[in-house]
Formats: sequence, structure tokens, C-alpha cells
Amino acid sequence: GDAIALPKQDWSFSGIFGTFDRAAAQRGLQVYREVCSTCHSLDYIAFRNLADLGYSEDEIKAIAAEYEVEDGPNDEGEMFMRPGTPADRFPAPFPNENAARASNGGAYPPDLSLIVDARAGFEDYVYALLIGYEEAPADVTLMAGMNYNKYFAGHQIAMAQPLYEDGVTYADGTKASVEQMAKDVTTFLAWASEPNMETRKQTGVAVILFLIVLSGLFYASKRKIWADVH
Ligand code: HEM
Repeated sequence: GDAIALPKQDWSFSGIFGTFDRAAAQRGLQVYREVCSTCHSLDYIAFRNLADLGYSEDEIKAIAAEYEVEDGPNDEGEMFMRPGTPADRFPAPFPNENAARASNGGAYPPDLSLIVDARAGFEDYVYALLIGYEEAPADVTLMAGMNYNKYFAGHQIAMAQPLYEDGVTYADGTKASVEQMAKDVTTFLAWASEPNMETRKQTGVAVILFLIVLSGLFYASKRKIWADVH
């Protein structure tokens, strides 16, 4: 079948004044940790980066310590496991791509660090994908291990529906509908893909304001310099 137009969402981070909704991103972190991280890595994000989302140093230490990370080699040349610290990155669920494929019927769950490229508008796609699971239409035969998703190209996707109502119990008490979790985790992943977005936008706005003021100054001095020429 043909691809269906993506439902457009309102995102707090769209537009030149857009910022990440911190509460949504924190809920999205919870969804990533409790659901997506079983299969998907988040290679580029270190625990200390979570300070951006409003977590305190103590909270970050506590989150990091819930993970076991590989370290080494030690004096005996061996790798070993130890509790995570803020400087560590989120550990991947599988040691390598082959192991990831072996656990996912041959399909590879991509790293999610850069998946929501908001500049390219991918947030609407990731959101749609997460809410797009349906019963396959009668005329479609699903291949073994595949799931029907109306927004996935070709509609047959190896990832089973990851989000179900109340799949997480939100720390802030928000009702965990599928749409809510999809929106929150997409916000979190948009932040992960470009943690410096807000600085970039603020700089852009400042540059434009500067250029406007400078243009005004040039115009005023031009008028003054040419004032006596008739
Ligand atoms: C693919 C997101 C949970 C396994 C993907 C893709 C995204 C994604 C954006 C790429 C789709 C594309 O290529 O267009 C997420 C999010 C999750 C989640 C946000 C949590 C809410 C899971 C879980 C599993 C999983 C729990 C394993 C049980 C896979 C696999 C693929 C995939 C195997 C490759 C699918 C294919 O190429 O057919 N996921 N995922 N995902 N995901 Fe997930």
C-alpha cells in the first residue's frame, strides 16, 4: 500500500523560539529507559548531559548508578563491570550489531541518539511510527516476525508495537496513554539528537537582531554623509 500522510504534531521545540518541554523530555527519558532501551542504544548521550533536562547532580549520580558499565582493562588486562557514573554514556543493550540482530529476528534496532533530526522534520515520523500499529488489512500477508504499521515504508516492520497504555507509570503522575508516551519519548529523542538546539536558536536570533541594528546604523550614517549632496 501507499504511505499515509504523517499527522502533524505541535512540538514545543519547533520554530526559532522553540525550546524543549523539560517535563515532557523527563517523561520521555523514563519511556526510553523502561521501554526502548531493551533494544535500542543511545550511544551519544552521557548521564551528565541530563543536567540539561533539569536533573540535579545527585539525581544524575543516582540514575547513572542504576546501570552497570564495562570498564578496563584492569592490571590483569581484563574488562570488568562497575556501576555507572555521570561521565559514562548510556550502556547499549547489546555488545554489537550481530548480537542485536540475533535478538531481533535479524533486524537491527538503530541507535536512537540521532534518530529525531528535528531540522529534517523527523519528529512527526517517529511519533507516527509509535502510534501507527494496526491489525494488518485482510489483503496483506505479514511475513514471519513482522508487524503491521501504517506509517512504516512498506508497512511491515520487525519492531513489535513497543507502547501500550500504562506501559510506564509516570513519576509525575501524567496519564500514560500511547500518544502521551510517543510524544514524550519523541521530545526526549529530539533533545538527544541536538542538545544545543536552544543555544543555536538563541544565537541565530541575536545575530538577526544585531544585523537589524547594524543596518539601521548604516542607513543613518549614509543619510548623514550624503545630507549635503543635492
Ligand atoms: C526500529 C524507535 C522500542 C526493536 C526503530 C526505528 C525507530 C524506533 C525510530 C526506526 C524505524 C525506521 O527505520 O523507519 C523506537 C522507540 C522505542 C522502540 C522510540 C520505544 C518507545 C523498541 C523495542 C524493540 C525495538 C522495545 C525490541 C523489542 C526495533 C527493531 C527495529 C526498530 C528490530 C528495526 C525494524 C525494521 O527495520 O524492520 N525503532 N523503538 N524497538 N526497533 Fe524500535
